[in-house]
Amino acid sequence: MSWINSLMARSLGRKPKAARNAQPGLVFTAAPPPKPAPRATEGKPAAEAFPRFHSTAGDQLSPRLTDATAAARVKLRSAFTPSQPITDRRLFAGRLDVLTTLIRSIEDQRVHVIMYGERGIGKTSLVHVLTQAAQEARYIVVYVSCGAASTFDEIFRAVAEDVPLLFHSGFAPTTEQAEKGGSLADLLPPTQLTPRLVADLFAKLTGTRVLVVLDEFDVCESPEFRRNIAELIKNLSDRSIRTQLVIAGVAADLTELVEHIPSIRRNIFALQVPKMSTAEVNHLVENGEAHSGVTFDKVATDFIVSVANGSPYLASLFSHHAGLVAIDKGRDRVMVEDVAVAVEQALTEFRGRISKQSLAQIDQATKAGARHILGVMAGAAQFNNGRFDERDVDAAHPNGPSAKATIDELAANHILLERQDDEHGRSYVFFEEAVLPYLWILAAQKRFLDERKPGGGDDGAAVVKAAPEKPEAASAVAGRAGRS
Ligand SMILES: Nc1ncnc2c1ncn2[C@@H]1O[C@H](COP(=O)(O)OP(=O)(O)O)[C@@H](O)[C@H]1O
Ligand SMILES: [Mg+2]
Repeated sequence: MSWINSLMARSLGRKPKAARNAQPGLVFTAAPPPKPAPRATEGKPAAEAFPRFHSTAGDQLSPRLTDATAAARVKLRSAFTPSQPITDRRLFAGRLDVLTTLIRSIEDQRVHVIMYGERGIGKTSLVHVLTQAAQEARYIVVYVSCGAASTFDEIFRAVAEDVPLLFHSGFAPTTEQAEKGGSLADLLPPTQLTPRLVADLFAKLTGTRVLVVLDEFDVCESPEFRRNIAELIKNLSDRSIRTQLVIAGVAADLTELVEHIPSIRRNIFALQVPKMSTAEVNHLVENGEAHSGVTFDKVATDFIVSVANGSPYLASLFSHHAGLVAIDKGRDRVMVEDVAVAVEQALTEFRGRISKQSLAQIDQATKAGARHILGVMAGAAQFNNGRFDERDVDAAHPNGPSAKATIDELAANHILLERQDDEHGRSYVFFEEAVLPYLWILAAQKRFLDERKPGGGDDGAAVVKAAPEKPEAASAVAGRAGRS
């Protein structure tokens, strides 16, 4: 059976023979089956059969494991880190133009930066490499990851603690306090900090520049906190103070910041972190190859690129899991079938994050033959706040009104999405963020497999045509929705 047939069999629900290769979890893997298989005494499985960690918390390989693959796993885990931002420049892929733009706006325009984009698009990783570049240029960089309960007072006391007193114009480097290693925090009053007070203090900075990075800004829910930040930006800019803010977070919340004080707009450079290009995702995989020693077959990388949809998070996730699958099979080369297993694992994981109601609606849409077009639209909406518009539908289905009718029908019945008409035209918004990666991955998986079916053709147009849009699709949706 060719790999494509075995993949199709898998997606048809037939269990592959090598079920023992399936990963029980997404982060830790079960110990490989010992060889030769230990004899389990009745009712008491052999100790080796019980899953165990491969390495100690100090990243040392477990001395019990003589398995050579354990070392490969440890390397792979640090090469692809889907649940952690990149901090090592060697693993940072692409984004050179984005970094250049950020540096230029901080250095030449002296503006404050707002970096926004969907979860997993790479904001925190960008912030880390930007921080390193700024530190190389002798900036004092203070990184703060905002929490739900963060307050202005708490954050700026912490920031002040990181700025040595010797950069304060009132304290010559030789003064006793500066020599003792004091910080700006020593000068703060015990009363609540206000933007004015913080600006007054930072106005005294000399001989250095400070970058205050406020990451995960959207996590902090307090409107007062945002108002204070807007006020601080205004104060810092009006007085050309040598302190700049770099704010990163999810889109919608950041526009609110400017709404508080429209006049700060010209002091802010807002940048939407774009999807990664195909070349950048390829670069991400190559970096991981170099770091882990595991190599990726060209078709395997192509599969990763097509399901990742420009998301470094997804690319890293698929690469990591496909790598583990290959290692479990005793290979140091990742093949396309390993990626297929990784994609199935991701689908299970993402499905688990979707509400019951949306899952039921996905079933409805599937029965109505609308799942593929929804998946393609989820891909468009993934980096656009869950929104797509008529142009996206047209681009996916250039010939014929059926896709539009199907989407309209779903929206009219409030199945997964709703329609919004305004002066910019018609758009659609998915109700639940969690359905986006799930639907998209399903569609991308189908497209990739269809294109490679014997006689499937390789042209991009086959992508959406592959979706079986039944003529009765729209009415089937309405009929079922009416009963739900
Ligand atoms: N430039 C990059 N090169 C390689 N991997 C990246 C890059 N940017 C992000 N990643 C990967 O994508 C994942 C999400 O990145 P992160 O910076 O945490 O995104 P965000 O802060 O936008 O949610 C991380 O696990 C990281 O490993
Ligand atoms: Mg982040």
